[in-house]
Amino acid sequence: MVNSIEKDLLIVGSGLAGLRAAIQAAKIAPHIKIAVISKLQVMRSHSVSAEGGTAAVLYPEDGDTIESHVYDTVKGSDFLGDQDVIEKLVSEMPSEVYQLEHWGMPWSRREDGRIGQRNFGGYSFPRATFAQDKVGFYEMQTLYDTCQKFDNIEFYNEWFVTSVVHDGQRFCGLTAIEMSSGTFYTFKAKALIIATGGAGRVYSFSTYALASTPDGLDMAYRAGMALKDMEFVQFHPTGILPSGILITEGARGEGGYLLNNKGERFMKKYAPSKLELASRDVVSRAMITEINEGRGYKHDTGVDCLKLDLRHLGKELIIQKLPAIREISLKFSGIDPADEPVDVRPVCHYMMGGIHTNIDGATEIQGVWAAGEAACNSVHGANRLGANSTAECLVWGKITGELAAKYIVEGKAPPPFPLHLVTTEEKRIYDGIFRGTGGANPYEVRQELTEIMNNKAYVFRTETDLVEGLKLVRELRQKTWKHVDDKAKEYNTNFTNVMELDSMFRVAEVILMGAIWRKESRGAHARTDYPDRDDKNFLTHTLVYYDTKEPVMKTHPVTITKYKPVERKY
Ligand code: FUM
Repeated sequence: MVNSIEKDLLIVGSGLAGLRAAIQAAKIAPHIKIAVISKLQVMRSHSVSAEGGTAAVLYPEDGDTIESHVYDTVKGSDFLGDQDVIEKLVSEMPSEVYQLEHWGMPWSRREDGRIGQRNFGGYSFPRATFAQDKVGFYEMQTLYDTCQKFDNIEFYNEWFVTSVVHDGQRFCGLTAIEMSSGTFYTFKAKALIIATGGAGRVYSFSTYALASTPDGLDMAYRAGMALKDMEFVQFHPTGILPSGILITEGARGEGGYLLNNKGERFMKKYAPSKLELASRDVVSRAMITEINEGRGYKHDTGVDCLKLDLRHLGKELIIQKLPAIREISLKFSGIDPADEPVDVRPVCHYMMGGIHTNIDGATEIQGVWAAGEAACNSVHGANRLGANSTAECLVWGKITGELAAKYIVEGKAPPPFPLHLVTTEEKRIYDGIFRGTGGANPYEVRQELTEIMNNKAYVFRTETDLVEGLKLVRELRQKTWKHVDDKAKEYNTNFTNVMELDSMFRVAEVILMGAIWRKESRGAHARTDYPDRDDKNFLTHTLVYYDTKEPVMKTHPVTITKYKPVERKY
């Protein structure tokens, strides 16, 4: 007999999108029972690591406009972003900034006392709203505090969700393991919001927290929901060496610049007007080109890199506006950026793809929404602009929280819970993984998988590399890594790590398949064998559906409202 918990709304993931959704649902439906379920403690969600800003048009009186934020985002997306979705993000954002302010968010201030905004890549106006360079941390703290005001939000910290249960059309519940006891449970509920964040740990050089594996994407995928546009992986220009931890774009927004080994500010060649504040895909490609043409530096570890110079900003400004990246540089690289340039190279930072949703965050299963980085509502298209991610989490946290709550209040009773699926899931994870046997070390296999992704599907891609990468991933998956050596019940992270690896394989395969299929260069997907954007054949989203034999690939139209695709220049 499986233990069971009954709720109305389940939110998986306790980052910005999950918390914002919980607050909105609790506000408009105070009598529904909401569970926020996370494999972590709330304040360990990767959202706390967001550094540089949250984009919003706050100062029309100074010349910023909604139209300009919309166009910058459309252009940044390389015209693959759905323009109706972008309009929604941009028009909803200003009120989200003020809403956070009212809940206690300590935004940094301008001299005149107004909320501070800084320059960020790809924007025509300084609209990255900031709180030093710890934006995610402060936003998370603000939302977590606000959640405490609602009696109907309950946190299930350190619960590992393993599957979504539905009857083919409508949502019924989840299966999950309570990590503190190792007990397997079902959650029965009327609605679900998946807000499990991105999956950037499928790459070895990554800004993501170690926990950012694709469990959330994979449970949706296994349950029949499509993954959309997964070939678009963002490489942020400035991952510090050797760890890959993010050095915020805000550092360049404040005036920092990149140098090659000739001491040249090389971005002049690649983006003469925007320089280091061109969109991220453009800057990352420029950096790898400099390295490939012999103008990079060698880090002590032997890795190629370039220098990010902040010295001219002065220690006072760095301490006041960029204290986190100073601390990161000091602690993880032994460098004070006020005294020395920092060694950086492009690093996996964001997935434009995710669970396929419509403009409202609704998935293909009734009663299931997705929000934040786990979702792909196509707001970022082929390349996200910095500061639009925390924004996206807030806007679609609010939208999905509201819609899910209304669905519950107005809705019918949920369909009967298909218990046979719970038995199938128990078999998958206990027989297939926990009691598995084999000689391959899953941690070594994980490392190997992430290195294949780094080597074969990085900033520049080719057919040969991608096909080879897919072959290597599939071969590696055949090794006998599906076993758990630690048989403890309590906090068995060996078990959850192997389940994470299982999801990493499926999602890595989808990324590579999409990247092979897309024979063009668009946004973050740069194919040296197809260097041009090809709107005739590829101005379309990709959808990949799970199948026990081989993933099934489809396409999905892009929504263009006002802006016809044109060549992108910065
Ligand atoms: O550079 C940064 O602070 C990153 C921001 C973002 O990805 O939105």
